[in-house]
Amino acid sequence: MTGDRLANRIAIVTGAASGIGRATAHLFASEGAQVLAVDLADQGLANAHRGNGAICCFEHSVSGEQGAEAIISRAIREFGRLDIVVNNAGISTNALVEFATLADFDRTIDINLRAHFLIARQAIPYLKQSPAGRLINVASVMAEVTDYGLSAYCSAKAGVAGLTRTLALELGKFGITANYILPGAISTGMTQASFARAEVAEIWAKKSPLRRLGQPIDVARGILFLASDDGAFVTGHGLNMDGGIMLRA
Ligand SMILES: NC(=O)c1ccc[n+]([C@@H]2O[C@H](COP(=O)([O-])OP(=O)(O)OC[C@H]3O[C@@H](n4cnc5c(N)ncnc54)[C@H](O)[C@@H]3O)[C@@H](O)[C@H]2O)c1
Repeated sequence: MTGDRLANRIAIVTGAASGIGRATAHLFASEGAQVLAVDLADQGLANAHRGNGAICCFEHSVSGEQGAEAIISRAIREFGRLDIVVNNAGISTNALVEFATLADFDRTIDINLRAHFLIARQAIPYLKQSPAGRLINVASVMAEVTDYGLSAYCSAKAGVAGLTRTLALELGKFGITANYILPGAISTGMTQASFARAEVAEIWAKKSPLRRLGQPIDVARGILFLASDDGAFVTGHGLNMDGGIMLRA
């Protein structure tokens, strides 16, 4: 199925070798966008998008100022302009605070929060030139709740929510929207090991009123909404894409 909801748009999607990022890059391309798909080396990025002429693959880490500069300049070199940035690349770490290492905490913040800030900062001058600039940051329901061992992950994801609201406030006058997504339990590379255990998958599926785990395409459709003209008057918003998992206390 193809459409034209992103006709003539240039997009960057990070973490695009797998899961939500991969599905988003595909969906964007099928809706007419040209996409710079970014992921680390050796994660199967080229394989994930082989044969898709609308997707250009760029193997690079999102980490640090150098990462942000490399990614934005590659998009500009490739396409000449930029309309949509999807900060999606992320990692999960798990350790009780008492036993957590600072190195793991810093690494989680680096990829899951600082990279969103740095890539957004680097993209802003180009988004200002777009008639429909869009920033979409992938947070998590863990921006609002927590679980054992998730101090670093939750700190980063709550940070993404605050960062995105501020971006929305600062960039609205340039016609740029900034929103964040709160996925629930989604079957991806990140959750593969947990959900491979049927009893774990079943517990998480049952938490949703819809009685199933989310699939990457479920989340990609929300990202498309915010990236397209359909989402033109939505900014500073956190969109739960969680199958209702957060409804019950
Ligand atoms: N799967 C879930 O249940 C779930 C729930 C809430 C939020 N999320 C968020 O969704 C986003 C996408 O994750 P996913 O579930 O699709 O997992 P995934 O592991 O399938 O995909 C994440 C991708 O990010 C890439 N990545 C990691 N570090 C990177 C770096 N330094 N530079 C570039 N790319 C890097 C990985 O290689 C991987 O391809 C993440 O931000 C994650 O925190 C996922």
